[in-house]
Amino acid sequence: MSNDFSEKFEKMRIAGKLASKTLDMLTDFIKPGISTDEIDKLSYEFIKDNGGYSAPLYYRGFNKSLCTSLNRVVCHGIPSDRILTESDVVNVDITTIVNDYYGDTSRMFSFGDVSVKAKNLIDTTYESMMRGIKILKPGIRLGDIGFEIESFVEEKGFSVVRDFCGHGISNAFHEPPNILHYGEKNNGLELSPGMTFTIEPMINEGKYDVKVLNDGWTAVTKDKSLSAQFEHTIGITEDSYEIFTESVKGYRKPPYN
Ligand code: MF3
Ligand code: CO
Ligand code: CO
Repeated sequence: MSNDFSEKFEKMRIAGKLASKTLDMLTDFIKPGISTDEIDKLSYEFIKDNGGYSAPLYYRGFNKSLCTSLNRVVCHGIPSDRILTESDVVNVDITTIVNDYYGDTSRMFSFGDVSVKAKNLIDTTYESMMRGIKILKPGIRLGDIGFEIESFVEEKGFSVVRDFCGHGISNAFHEPPNILHYGEKNNGLELSPGMTFTIEPMINEGKYDVKVLNDGWTAVTKDKSLSAQFEHTIGITEDSYEIFTESVKGYRKPPYN
């Protein structure tokens, strides 16, 4: 590729690959018995040892290096001494900075006691993200992405979180445009080559309403139902798209083996 965004894409590839390799590495450790703080430390060290920095650390007062969102936590869960159990479902969200560029990706993890409904929620969330990605090319509009995700999710009886969205990302963590995971066809900003952004649908088993806990970060479902999320960082090419945060080990959704 040789165009005015090829250098930017090369940097996005490097940051994105470190983020996905971090999740790949963590997969062996994210098991019942580990605390979310231990996951945080492993991630911080791995990213540092590979020439990057963990973007969440000290971001707007966040004091950990990644987000761990368990069960009814929608996003921005703060690592703690909480130990994972067989029945937890957890999202681990990594953001790296390498040479000033950002890679942002998250996956769900589940274990032995995952209920049929939770598994269905996780599968639906992954599939909704991929449906949103597969239509990407110059000329489509942001509403087309939201429509694709929302219509699939609602047909399965789940709901799309409104209060958080995907975002532009390059040499800043969060930049315009907002990428809503709901919407109407043929609506909103038109995509053009060189754009880079995340798609990161948060899907609830029950209603889409969320609230933020007193820690100022942890977003939870109001009705206490389970929530799931996956995230990729993507670039729009001349005629299609590129995923910068694809797993090197081929991990897509649980079970990872
Ligand atoms: N990684 C999250 C996202 O997908 C943002 C986390 S911000 C933090 O945009 F401060 F909570 F880490
Ligand atoms: Co993001
Ligand atoms: Co993220």
